[in-house]
This record gives sequence, C-alpha cells and structure tokens, in this order.
Amino acid sequence: MEKLGVPGSVLSGNAHVNTCRRLDIEPQKGCPGGAKGSFPENRKSDFHIDPSNNPAVLHAQFDHLRSTCPLAFTLDKGGFWLLTRYADIKASAADHNTFISSVKAVVPSDPRGTRRPPLNYDPPNHTPYRTALDRTLRPQRLERLRPLLEKHAEEELEKLLQRGGGDICTEFGANYAAWVETEWLNLDHASAPVLAETAARWVNAWRQEDAENVMKYSTRLYDIARALFADRKDNPRDTASDPATSLLAEQDEKGEPLKEEHLIGALRQSLVVGMVAPPLMLGGICNHLSEDQELQQRLREEPGLIGPAVEEFIRLYVPYRGFSRTVSSKVEIHGRIIRPGQPVTMTYAAGNRDPQVFPRPHEFVLDRPNISSHLGFGRGRHRCAGAPLARMALQIAVSVILKRTERFEVNGPLQFVRMPEMGIMSCPLRLIPSMAV
Ligand code: HEM
Repeated sequence: MEKLGVPGSVLSGNAHVNTCRRLDIEPQKGCPGGAKGSFPENRKSDFHIDPSNNPAVLHAQFDHLRSTCPLAFTLDKGGFWLLTRYADIKASAADHNTFISSVKAVVPSDPRGTRRPPLNYDPPNHTPYRTALDRTLRPQRLERLRPLLEKHAEEELEKLLQRGGGDICTEFGANYAAWVETEWLNLDHASAPVLAETAARWVNAWRQEDAENVMKYSTRLYDIARALFADRKDNPRDTASDPATSLLAEQDEKGEPLKEEHLIGALRQSLVVGMVAPPLMLGGICNHLSEDQELQQRLREEPGLIGPAVEEFIRLYVPYRGFSRTVSSKVEIHGRIIRPGQPVTMTYAAGNRDPQVFPRPHEFVLDRPNISSHLGFGRGRHRCAGAPLARMALQIAVSVILKRTERFEVNGPLQFVRMPEMGIMSCPLRLIPSMAV
C-alpha cells in the first residue's frame, strides 16, 4: 500500500507536508534508521505526551495536531506516530493487512511483550477467537444478563449511598465492571471482588510500566483463567452463553483445535479488557453531569433519553489514546512515510472530536444525526467485541445512579489516567439519595 485514501480530509496530502514544514518538522525523504521499525536518531518529535494527562489539555493538543500535523511523530514511549483525523483513523483501523496488531497493538505495550488473542492477533488467526466471543454477546444473552447487572449496580451504589458518596470510578465503577465480567464469563460469584482488585492493580502497573507488578498480577489473572478453562473442559456449558466453552469449541483454519495456552490467553484477556474502560467512562459521564446539573435533572426526569445520551458520552469520553497498529509495509499519509515495523496510534478519542465529522465536537449534543459513526468502540476486525454488553452495562449504571439520587456532584479532586488510556480515573462524588426509592 503506497497511499492511504483519506476521504473527507480537510487538506490534500501535499498541503499537510507544507503545514508540517511550517512547524519545523522535517518531512521524511527516506528513513535512514536501518533496522526495521527503528527511528533515525536525528528524528525530532512533533509533540510530547503531556505529563498532566488532563483530558482538556490532551484534546487541545489533538486539535492542534489534527489541523496542523495530522500524522505526528514523537520519540516518547519508544517512538510512535499519532493519527488524529477521523478519516485517517477509520481507514487505518479498517486496513488490517497493512496496519497489523500482532507486533504492537497498544502504546505503551505489555512490558513483557506477551501476545494474546484476539487483540494481538491478525486475521485469519484472530477469527476463531473473535467468533467464539461474539457468539456469547448476542441480544438474547444480553437480555438475560440485564436483570443481574441491574441488581449489581443497585447493590454497589447502595454502599456509596450509605456513606453519602464515594469514588464513582475506583469504587462503584471497578466493582460493577468486575460483576459485568463475572456474569458474562459465568465465574463463581466469589471471584468478583478478587477480579476487581487484581485487575485494578494490574492496570495500574501497566500504566506505570512496572514490569514486576504487571507480571505479578497478570499471573493471578492467568490463574483465574486457567481454573475456568480446566473446569469447562470437564463441564462444558452452552456455547452461546459461556465464553470459555465457546472458545473450546473453535478450531483454526486447518480444522485443528486451538492451542490450550492461546485459549487461556484469550480468557485472560477477556478477564481484563472489559474492566478498563467502564470505570473511566463513568468518571467522564458523572463529572459531565455534575457540571451540567440541568442535563442531569433532565435525564432523571426523562430516562428514555439515557440511551442516546450514553452514546454521545462514549463519543466525548472514549478513554483510549493508545490503541495502535504496526505497519507491515511502507505507508504514505499526508506526504510522510511510515516504515515497516513502526507503530501508529489511532487516537479514537481524537477522531471522535474531529469537527469535520462532528460539528461542535467538544459539546454534548443529544441525538446527533451521525452518532452511530463514532469511533468509541474502534473499527474493523478489532472493533470492541464487548460493545453491546458495555453499552448496556453503562446505560444500566447511569440509570441506577440517576434513579437512586436526587442530585450528585463532584466533591474532591479528579485524577487523570496515563497512557494508553485518557480520562478520569478517580472521581469523588457527593450523592444525595432520592426520597422516591
Ligand atoms: C465502555 C466500555 C468499552 C469501550 C469504550 C471499549 C472500547 C474498545 C476499543 C476501542 C477496542 C478496539 C481496540 C483496537 O482497535 O485495537 C476494544 C477492543 C476489545 N474490547 Fe472493548 N471496550 C469497552 C468494554 C468492553 C467490554 C465490557 C468487553 C468484554 C466484555 C470488551 C472486550 C473487548 C475485546 C475482547 C476487544 C478486542 C477485540 C479484538 O481484538 O477483536 N470491551 N474495546
């Protein structure tokens, strides 16, 4: 592939090269870096990762890069390219032959370099794992999960209500997300608190690039996955409602059973992927509704609006900036060359605020006509497998929080999350309980 099509881009490729020159960014005439994937030592960064991790600052940076240098480079985190335009991100995510996931799919990546399916596999190896997970997330199954999740959301919120409030991310969000995973995977109920704590520690270690603790907590997650796998080998369940059984039923393209270590890896990934985004999303949503009390009250009075509101919140607060691909062949975008082996982050959070696609991009607009085009769940083969479950779980959480309160507001300092995510990871709330319930 020599050139990515970028329909809908504001400027042509050449115009971008000129803009980048004005920014004193050397246009690439060739990459003398030598080894595959390495960057030449004299390459300059177009930007640096903001140490505050403040989403407002990050979005201002994305806005600047999107209009002045839409394929930007940084030496931070070992060096990577960054895409900020909606059309470029959509096109890259859809082209899984050129933008592969099997080398580096997240910046920064797992410090141990472990590759687990489905996120770190390319088609066709990716396909059976994805088929297995998709089978367990169909509408009928989700409807059976709904009352269970409502009960968990009620019970987790009650703990905060008893105290007049608490952290909607680290307490309610982390525990509720663990319940969502526990019910989806049909884990023993005793696993939920262990999962909530272990996954939170593992994610924090990853964000700190702390290899020792990543290993420690990853091993515990592997133990849970291995025990689940061993049980389902002996006691298979219905493939449409049990992810472990569904994975066991799949074969590779030659019709051979999938390797046990890969199945365990897929289960281990399934244990944590769904734990990361929901607490951050709830931080973004509750902070927004704390700042806009009128909207908070409107959603409380008209619960039918919660579905479309959550979709707009996912557009605004998708907590990912680090999902990436590695290019398998030379790619030219906006007049710059990405060499084979070099990583590119597809900043879904930036794409979702591209004014060419979403007018008034930083504002909450209910019922945007093109809201279903947002990139909050990614695109292409690796688009979020859990999207239908995540959407339902968020709608339930927001409904319960609104129903059980008369008002809520942020009453302490927010904490912002590091790369590969972005957003609010700690959001203390004062909760005024509703008298009606
Ligand atoms: C609001 C919550 C969530 C958001 C915003 C979200 C977002 C995403 C995004 C953007 C990707 C694409 C990664 C890429 O392009 O490389 C992804 C992948 C994935 N997500 Fe989610 N996710 C959420 C919740 C969940 C949940 C609850 C589950 C599991 C039940 C889940 C399972 C997965 C899996 C398995 C993948 C990898 C898919 C593949 O590689 O084929 N996610 N998610």
